[in-house]
Parts: sequence; C-alpha cells; structure tokens
Amino acid sequence: MKDLSPQKSDLEPIEIASIDEIRTLQLERMKWSLRHAYDNVPMYKQRFDEAGVHPDDLQSLSDLSKFPFTYKNDLRDNYPFGLFAVPREQIMRLHASSGTTGKATVVGYTANDISNWADLLARSLRASGLRRGDMIHNAYGYGLFTGGLGAHYGIERLGATVVPMGGGQTEKQVGLITDFKPDGIMVTPSYMLNILEQFHKQGLDPRDSSLSVGIFGAEPWTNAMRQEVEAAFDMHAVDIYGLSEIMGPGVANECVETKDGLHIWEDHFYPEIIDPATGEVVEDGEMGELVFTTLTKEGLPMVRYRTRDLTRLLPGTARSMRRMEKITGRSDDMIILRGVNVFPTQIEEQVMATGGLAPYFQIELYKSGRMDAMRVYVEAEPNAANELSKTAAARMLTKRIKDIVGVSTEVITGDPGSVARSQGKAVRVVDNRHKG
Ligand code: DLL
Repeated sequence: MKDLSPQKSDLEPIEIASIDEIRTLQLERMKWSLRHAYDNVPMYKQRFDEAGVHPDDLQSLSDLSKFPFTYKNDLRDNYPFGLFAVPREQIMRLHASSGTTGKATVVGYTANDISNWADLLARSLRASGLRRGDMIHNAYGYGLFTGGLGAHYGIERLGATVVPMGGGQTEKQVGLITDFKPDGIMVTPSYMLNILEQFHKQGLDPRDSSLSVGIFGAEPWTNAMRQEVEAAFDMHAVDIYGLSEIMGPGVANECVETKDGLHIWEDHFYPEIIDPATGEVVEDGEMGELVFTTLTKEGLPMVRYRTRDLTRLLPGTARSMRRMEKITGRSDDMIILRGVNVFPTQIEEQVMATGGLAPYFQIELYKSGRMDAMRVYVEAEPNAANELSKTAAARMLTKRIKDIVGVSTEVITGDPGSVARSQGKAVRVVDNRHKG
C-alpha cells in the first residue's frame, strides 16, 4: 500500500492545537450556538424555558448537560422548516432523509454552513491521505441524501478532480475507475463490495486499479471488512462518519496514518456520550449513545442531538481532537434475541472470519413458536460453491456465532449471487416477526 501519511504542512493549525485552545474555542462557539438556537427557534426557547435553563447559564462546557436533548422526532414534528434558525430565504440548500417510518426529516444550510461543510470534508479527505491535484471517484448517491453533494463540494474544496458518478450502474463504475484512474473512491462499504465483485466479473484484478484509498461510511462496517477490502484492492480503507441532522459526511474521519477510530472535528461539533437509558453523561472511554451539539451551524443549530449511534470517546492521537471508536451500531439496529444483544456488525465479523464465504450477508428475524429467532443468509465463494463446502461453512459460522456472539442461529449458505447486493446503505436486517 502507498504511504499516504501527511506532512505537518498539510494540517490546519487547529488540528494540532492544544486541548486548552480547542476547549476555549468550543466554549465561545457553544455560547453563540445556544443563544442562536434560543433566540431564533421557538422549540428551543420553549424547551430551555421549561427546563429552567438559559443560554447565559453556560459558563463551562460541562454546563451543557443542564440543557435538554433534541430528538429525530423533533425534526418530524416541525416538518419541514420549523427548526430553521434563519429565514428560509437565507437557506441555500435543503437535504432530506427518507426515513423508513413517518415523515422525512428536512435539513437546511446557509451559505456559511455549506462552506464550512466543504472545508471539513476537505479536511477529512486530507486525513484520508488525499491532496490537491488528486482525482476522486464519488459513488455516494447524489440528490436529497447528503452523501453525494457533501462529498462533491469537499473534493472541489480540496482542489482535487471530482468524478461525480453517484450510486448504481456498477459496470460503468468499474469502467470509469479503469479509464480515469482516480486516486481515491468515496462510497458505502457495502457498495464497494459490489464494485469489487464487478471487477472480478470483468476479469480485472482490483489490485491493478489506480485506487490508493477508499473513504467508506454512511453505515457501520468492521475492521474485518477493512482488511478484506484493503487486501482485495491493495489500498487503504478509512472510515468517514456523519449524519444529515448535524451536517452530513465529514463530522468525523479516520486518519490514514493510524486508522484507530475517527477524529471528531470538534471545532464545529461538540460530542458527548450518554447512557441512553438515563440520559446521564458518561466519562470518556465508556460506551454509550453519541450526542452532538453544533457549534457553528446557522441554518439548523442542533443542541444535544441524540444520534442513537453507539460508540465511545477516546483521546486524540494523530490529531489533537478526540476520537470516536468505530461505530458498533445504532440502538435501533440492536437485535435482542432471548436476552442477548446482537448487532449486525458482530455477525459481519464472523462472516468475514469464516472460510469459503463471500463477504455478503443478511439477517432475517422471524417467530419460531412464540420465540424470536434469527436466520443468517450468506453465500459461498465461487470456488467453494459445492454442497459439501456450503454445509461445512454453514456449520462453522453457526458455531462461531454461538461461541463468540452468544446466540443460536440458523445459517443458510446460498450460491454466489444469492444475497441481495447493496446499492448504497445495505439492508442488514429483515424483520419478519410480525408476518404469518
Ligand atoms: O449517512 C451521511 C454520510 C454520508 C456519512 C456519506 C458518511 C458518508 P444519514 O443518511 O443522515 O447521513 O445517516 C446518518 O448513518 O447516524 C449512522 O447511524 C450512520 N453512519 C454514518 N456514517 C457512519 C459510519 C449519512 N462511518 C446515520 N459508521 C448515522 C457507522 C455510520 N455508521
């Protein structure tokens, strides 16, 4: 793999500032942000008043814990523009997430917000090892999803060449990568596997591709998946995190020289980890739900937004700002099977570790009598697609899931191509518990 470690001159001063400098900047910005939300968004005024807190009560960063949380439902209840803190005329762009239930959540950005986003995405790309003058293939979906346009503007801000491919048309993706020879690719990790398969279908060795780094996010993925993709393409794989409500991609990003979790761009977003059951803030290092307060956002300020993503905060390494550990999963995706908590990422790790299996899987939940049960659909690698190998792989995976994750499952090993392929965010769990 190519050495992509940055020079000190590649970094912005704030990335290597002292913790004191960062905390001072955060406090100043947080005071502004709480005041901005309180003065301009009726919901925040009402919530703060009800809780008996005022923006002036924030004297230190830890005072933030006195302020009420904001939830995804608050965006739905105030659909479409009720939480915007500026007149609609000052909103330069809208994005929305479809959401599987209920109304879409709509987010809005002022010109400054869009510019900050481009800066932070460019910073994320530099952390990933890319530089001005590189070429980046952008396969995140364009449109209302923040992935495509968010990445696009960041690539331009970096001074790199953007290939605005978007999602889908996998054959064409491979054609463009082969012909244009980009240095980096931005795509969901599950769709990258789809692209990998297409390389093989076209008789191409992905290790011969020009790609030196992939920047993968928008869904959970494991270090086991990282190893798989890095080996297949002979390139680095780094993690990018973000969510529409807070901004979009580029809230946090891994550094290519350490790949030890994602540095949160704390000069714009203040993270807390809370116990999701009690709402109490826990110490750095402890697992819990990630909560963000935006520090500079004008269009849609968010105060203590509950992401439902589970992780922990760790001290800075390659940069001064704190890291978040690779996300285990969302609290919504957690499966509780006979009292044991299971995340799809835990199943992914075991699928990756089982010989003879391709890296695709889907989990089905169903009722067995009155009990919940789980079935895992996987598929044989093309060179191990005979009945004997399939049965052996199923047995091995069942045992690994039982021994390591701690639940009993049925594993079904299908032929190559039998598991649905992702076009963007993978659907990991199909819940049939309420059917038939
Ligand atoms: O997925 C923004 C994004 C686009 C991030 C492209 C990275 C790359 P939403 O559609 O609002 O925004 O979904 C946000 O996706 O709360 C997490 O549950 C999940 N997610 C995003 N990045 C990661 C990641 C975009 N690196 C939701 N690891 C978040 C795990 C992630 N989960």
